Amino acid sequence: MTSMLTSAQLQQSFTDYDQFLATHSGLWQCNPFTYTHWPWSQSAEAIRTRLRQQLQLLTDPVAPLDALTTEQTAWPFWLTNGIQGRKLAQISGFIGQFDSQQAVLEWCSGKGHLGRLLSYQRLLPVTSLEWQKTLCEQGQALAQQHGIAQQFQHCDVLALTPGSLPNNCAMVALHACGDLHRRLLEQFTHSSGAELFLAPCCYHLQAASYYQPLSKYAQQSPLQLSKSDLKLAVQDFVTAGQRTARLRDTEQLWRLVFQEYRALLCGDPSYQPLPAINKQIFTGDISAFMAWACQQHGLKLPSAAELAELLPIAHQRLRLVRDIDDVRQLFRRPLELWLLLDRALYLSEHGYQVALKQFCPYQHSPRNTLIISRR
Ligand SMILES: C[S@@+](CC[C@H](N)C(=O)[O-])C[C@H]1O[C@@H](n2cnc3c(N)ncnc32)[C@H](O)[C@@H]1O
Repeated sequence: MTSMLTSAQLQQSFTDYDQFLATHSGLWQCNPFTYTHWPWSQSAEAIRTRLRQQLQLLTDPVAPLDALTTEQTAWPFWLTNGIQGRKLAQISGFIGQFDSQQAVLEWCSGKGHLGRLLSYQRLLPVTSLEWQKTLCEQGQALAQQHGIAQQFQHCDVLALTPGSLPNNCAMVALHACGDLHRRLLEQFTHSSGAELFLAPCCYHLQAASYYQPLSKYAQQSPLQLSKSDLKLAVQDFVTAGQRTARLRDTEQLWRLVFQEYRALLCGDPSYQPLPAINKQIFTGDISAFMAWACQQHGLKLPSAAELAELLPIAHQRLRLVRDIDDVRQLFRRPLELWLLLDRALYLSEHGYQVALKQFCPYQHSPRNTLIISRR
């Protein structure tokens, strides 16, 4: 049984991380791409050493994974067909922490792999809510094929009115993004007798441009978080394969080439972001990317000689971006904890007990914290 955190513990922990983040906001609330020179008086190494020392004094409120739950559950092969290895490890870890006897409501279920395995192992009925019709159909077919008590409801969870969900159920959500899990928290606090097992994800996927703290306690914080600040909380690349990492490097380099070219042509060194584009373009030749980028800003194409001159400058800027990012990365975990603690405080303020528990190893998912809550 996971031990619950008291509201005093939650408040203390929130205050610690809030102060750490607010004191050093200049080191992480910035866009590395806007700099042409090292922006701070101390070296990267000196800053990192100082921050690491301060971080050692803060307590992580998330209970670590216990040895038992790191063992893989032996599922029958027919039940897990089509679930890739890392997802299966996440689901097994999640179910390992699930200690409710109530009927299950699965929020934003996708094909409902979590619900299907949970129903099979715990013999509980599961209702899975999902917005994409084809995923509902595929999930329902799998449940029927294996005789699992799982029903899909094709719906937009954001359109459900608070209080319209059943009472006395266990609400589960694996990797529900920003507004989707915020809405789940709201629904949960409107239902009586429910229990919550929520693994949040992608905090920046929200309609509002700035983060609105959920808890009254976090509403007192001096921090103002933009969507790009929020992105930092999920900006770890452990699960990215080599190909994805290579593509990211190419994308960043080419964007910097364009940035340098635009600055040269227009005599304006200020950073002008380009829109997002299908990553496919970064598998090809730089000229196709430059043609697209120049079109966005109404510029003529660079010659091959100009491109050859810009590339080494862009490489140098990429190194600077990496060095600034290395400092920002030290704030990733504190920021994620700040966001998790805001959710935990919100539940605590509504009269619920809350635990924060790691449910799978970091390599299987960097978003590996489960918020467990009940009256
Ligand atoms: C990140 S996936 C997680 C799926 C699953 N829980 C898992 O861990 O594999 C988020 C799911 O939420 C669904 N979704 C997005 N917006 C939704 C909405 N408004 N209502 C219901 N489901 C939604 C998506 O279609 C997608 O299947």
